[in-house]
Amino acid sequence: MTRHFLKDDDLSPAEQAEVLALAASLKASRHTAEAPTPLRAANGAPLGVAVLFDKPSTRTRVSFSVGVAELGGYPLVVDAGTSQLGRGESVEDTTRVLDRQVAAIVWRTFGQERIDAMAAVSRVPVINALTDEYHPCQILADLQTVIEHKGSLAGRSMTYLGDGANNMAHSYLLGGATAGMHVRIGSPETFQPDPAVLERAAAIAAETGGSVGWTADADAAADGADVLVTDTWVSMGQEDEYDARVAPFLPYALDEGVLGRAADDAVVLHCLPAYRGKEIAAGVIDGPQSVVWDEAENRLHAQKAVLIWLLEKNA
Ligand code: CP
Ligand code: NVA
Repeated sequence: MTRHFLKDDDLSPAEQAEVLALAASLKASRHTAEAPTPLRAANGAPLGVAVLFDKPSTRTRVSFSVGVAELGGYPLVVDAGTSQLGRGESVEDTTRVLDRQVAAIVWRTFGQERIDAMAAVSRVPVINALTDEYHPCQILADLQTVIEHKGSLAGRSMTYLGDGANNMAHSYLLGGATAGMHVRIGSPETFQPDPAVLERAAAIAAETGGSVGWTADADAAADGADVLVTDTWVSMGQEDEYDARVAPFLPYALDEGVLGRAADDAVVLHCLPAYRGKEIAAGVIDGPQSVVWDEAENRLHAQKAVLIWLLEKNA
């Protein structure tokens, strides 16, 4: 069975720790003679990695392109609008064409069922570069960033404020629980996490010593948190709902008042792109507790680690 990375709990707690340790070592050895190049064939030719986008991207596009190149490979970045996939060729047929030519497939798309369908037929590893439901590569980068600034993950509390029903909230629940963290989601009642994801995260947390929870009380969610995080109130694909979506989230903005409730040495994360004055105050994202640029850089290291780990597991 080919191993893929489709959602956060595709990695066991031990495997997640392995990937995060690899990410740290790749960061430390970047550009050195020791840096691994597993995407280079025996004759020196670069192996291809398909990086497909059904939605816009800046960080994911750049970090996968640079990461694949740094591993010795060749990134083939394809937008839906310029491929037959965007004209209705089936996911399965597309995958059967790609997996004969590339070493891995990275895909940003809409419903999780699309990437599940790809993984079901792919003979090479498939990596989720964001779906409507999950953004697992982002959470690995975030966890790497928390380790860098806090030294460890297990037992630390991480509070996410905003859209509790979106991909980031779900991935924080699963990925944070896997790391043994105490993950709290503060969101409007009408934007709660998927109960199945909460249940799964709670089951993981029961094994790792972490915990997960939801509350509509933003202040209570933020109290004493080691990590405070938020995300846009209007995810890709929801642009038509903009006006209806902003008002319910106003009490969940990550502003100076909320930050003041967290631990004194709390760090602030945001996957970006950020909307200052909406989900996060300019003074918070641009302030001394923000580590968002480290977080954005760590996409590169964390994804290189996932690629190497999957290539080794599937060798
Ligand atoms: N955080 C993130 O995934 O950014 P992009 O949408 O720019 O890739
Ligand atoms: N929730 C956001 C994350 C962007 C990286 C979205 O899906 O648009």
